[in-house]
Amino acid sequence: MAENIVLIGFMGVGKGAIARELVRQTDLFALDTDDLIESMENRKIKKIFKEEGEEYFRKLEQKCANWLCKNVSSSIISTGGGFYKVENLEKIGTIILLDASFDWIYNRIVNAENAQKKLKKRPLFNSYDQAKALYDSRQKAYKKAAKTVIDVENSSPEEAVKTILKSL
Ligand code: S3P
Repeated sequence: MAENIVLIGFMGVGKGAIARELVRQTDLFALDTDDLIESMENRKIKKIFKEEGEEYFRKLEQKCANWLCKNVSSSIISTGGGFYKVENLEKIGTIILLDASFDWIYNRIVNAENAQKKLKKRPLFNSYDQAKALYDSRQKAYKKAAKTVIDVENSSPEEAVKTILKSL
C-alpha cells in the first residue's frame, strides 16, 4: 500500500489549502479528519465540543486514526490541530508539519474574508492569548511528530507543495 501524506499543524495554518494544492499537483484525493468526524457524528465540531466535551472529541480522533490506518492509502489527509496526539500517527503515513509563527496564523485567520466563520467553528480559538498559549504548548510535540517541517509562512502554497513532494 502506498503511503498517505498526513498534514499536521496548528489551527489556521492552512492545512486545507495545502491539501487542495497537493490535489492539484498530484493525482491523489484528499480527506480531512474533522470532516470525517463531522460526517460520522452528523454534527459540527463546535457542537460536539459543546455537547460532549473535548475528551469525547479526542476519542473520535483516535477512532478516525485507527480507521485511516487500516483502510486508507495513497491519499492526502489533512488533520485537526490536535490530531498529532493520536496513537500510531506515524502508521497512517508520512507526517508533514505545516509550520508558521503564531502571529502569522492569527493574522491569516482574522484577515480572512470569512474570519467570523473561521473563528466561530474553532472552540479552542477563543482569544489571542488562549490560542497563543495552546500554540506554544504544542510546538515541540508537533516537531517531534513530523518527518518533515514545511515553513508555510515564507513560501506560497505552490512552493510549499513542491517542497513536500520532493521530500517524500
Ligand atoms: C483543534 C483543531 C480543529 C478541530 C478542533 C480542535 C485543536 O481543527 O479539530 O477544533 O485541538 O487544535 P483545525 O486545525 O482544522 O482548526
